[in-house]
Parts: sequence; structure tokens; C-alpha cells
Amino acid sequence: MPLVNAKEMLTKAKAGHYAVGQFNINNLEWTKAILLTAQEMNSPVILGVSEGAGKYMCGYNTVVGMVNGMLETLNITVPVALHLDHGSYEGAKACIEAGFSSIMFDGSHYSIEENIEKTKELVAICEEKGLSIEAEVGSIGGEEDGVVGAGECADPNECKMIADLGVTMLAAGIGNIHGKYPENWAGLSFETLAAVQEKTGTMPLVLHGGTGIPADMIQKAISLGVSKINVNTECQLAFQEATRKYIEAGKDLEGKGFDPRKLLAPGVEAIKATVKEKIELFGSANKA
Ligand code: 13P
Repeated sequence: MPLVNAKEMLTKAKAGHYAVGQFNINNLEWTKAILLTAQEMNSPVILGVSEGAGKYMCGYNTVVGMVNGMLETLNITVPVALHLDHGSYEGAKACIEAGFSSIMFDGSHYSIEENIEKTKELVAICEEKGLSIEAEVGSIGGEEDGVVGAGECADPNECKMIADLGVTMLAAGIGNIHGKYPENWAGLSFETLAAVQEKTGTMPLVLHGGTGIPADMIQKAISLGVSKINVNTECQLAFQEATRKYIEAGKDLEGKGFDPRKLLAPGVEAIKATVKEKIELFGSANKA
């Protein structure tokens, strides 16, 4: 199945009280692992690409070519959206040109007026081209591609202003953080989440920083309107651990160094296991 935008999968998730996982991709191995797992679980999936990962993978055209090639060769029949994660205004335009099916424009660091103005412009382009669009209000804490956010809670009235522009989904800061959560983390603000959802009606809400949030908080967030959950660090940690173990075992040395395909295989399996666990937790299995 060719790439689809994320609108239908998120509308269904919202109505069915589950969430679709956005798993970030960084290379061919990650992409393959995520697609194969979504297919095995019969789950819709969103492939997230940060601007840094896009550069690393030789640009957005290469990413689109790689993903489209895999959808065909791996015979992927579940709905897959290719989504720019935390895009700048310029990055969003470049991904629209390159053939992504979905973008996030993260205008949370602008004033609300400028966030509205730029989001509005991108909504119009996405509508015309049939892409879905995610906007953000209230920065997500932690570090994302070198950008450090403080993790504030979004203002529900500002969320309504952005939602009313016609975005497909909205990321609202509710105390969530990218990367590992600190020991003294206060937890998600369900009060903010409920207030944002009340103001935004049926708008699918997005929970960033999906790594390390306890299962009961994930379930509560879904029950309060979260329909998309982003995960990156957990896949990174799983990949790192599996690769480290493989290297330490020194299996493939034989004087030639490691066979790169064998070296990366345990990491691929580790990502598959992580994605499977998340799809089960988010409730999107058999919802393709
Ligand atoms: P984690 O790295 O904390 O899983 O967050 C991913 C994310 O929100 C990408 O936008």
C-alpha cells in the first residue's frame, strides 16, 4: 500500500480509544524493523523523521525513496504515514516537496501569533496536497536534535486557537519530556490534558516523549484523548544494548572485522521487540 496521510488512522484511533505509535527512523535497519513489526501486528504506524535524521539519511528525497521502496518490496499492507517530526517552517516545506505524507510544524518556540500565522499557511498547503499536519503548543521538555525545551504545560486557549486552524493533530505540552524522565519528574498533567481536550473537541492529541512513561499513565492519556504517541529513545536504547552485546561477544571477528549485516541484526530484533511492546500497550494491534 502506498503512503497515506495520518488523518484516517488517527480519526479511527480517537473513536476506538487507542493510539497509533509514531516511531522515529534513523536508517534502513530501523525503518525495516518498524515496518515489519507494524505489518506483523496488523497495526497502522507513523514513521517519524527528525530534521537531523533526515540529513543523516542523505535528505528527504532519499528517505521517501527508501520508504516507498520498502513498502513495495516488503509487501506492507497496513497504513503507513511518513511524518516530519518537529519540523521547522522550511523543513516542513521541503518534506511536502519531497513526498512525505504528513508533517509536524513545531512553532512552539515562536510567539502564539507567529505560530498561528505559520501554521495557518502550512495547513492550507497540506490541505491542497492531501497531507496531514501536526502543530505544537507548549514546548516538550528535554533535547530533540539539539533543541532543549523546558517542558511547560500548554495553555488550553492557545491550543484551541491552533486547533481551529484545521490541523489534523495537536501536540500539547503536558509535562512530557523527550528522552529519559528524571527521578523527580512530576508526571503528566492530566488536568492540562483534559482541559486541552475540552477546548479542542475531537482533535486527536499527540503525546511526545513516549519513552519511559509508565503504562498506567499512557492508558490514562489515551482515555483522555491522546491518539498518537511518539517513541524514539526507547528504540535507541534497545538498539544500543543489543549492538553492544554483539560486539562484546566478538563473534564475527575472524580477522575480517564484523559483517555489517550481522552486526546490526541484533539491534533490528531489539527494535522489533520494542515496537511490538508499544503497539500492544497503545492498543493499535489489529486496527489496520
Ligand atoms: P522519546 O525520545 O522520549 O521517546 O520521544 C520521542 C518523540 O517525542 C519524538 O518527537
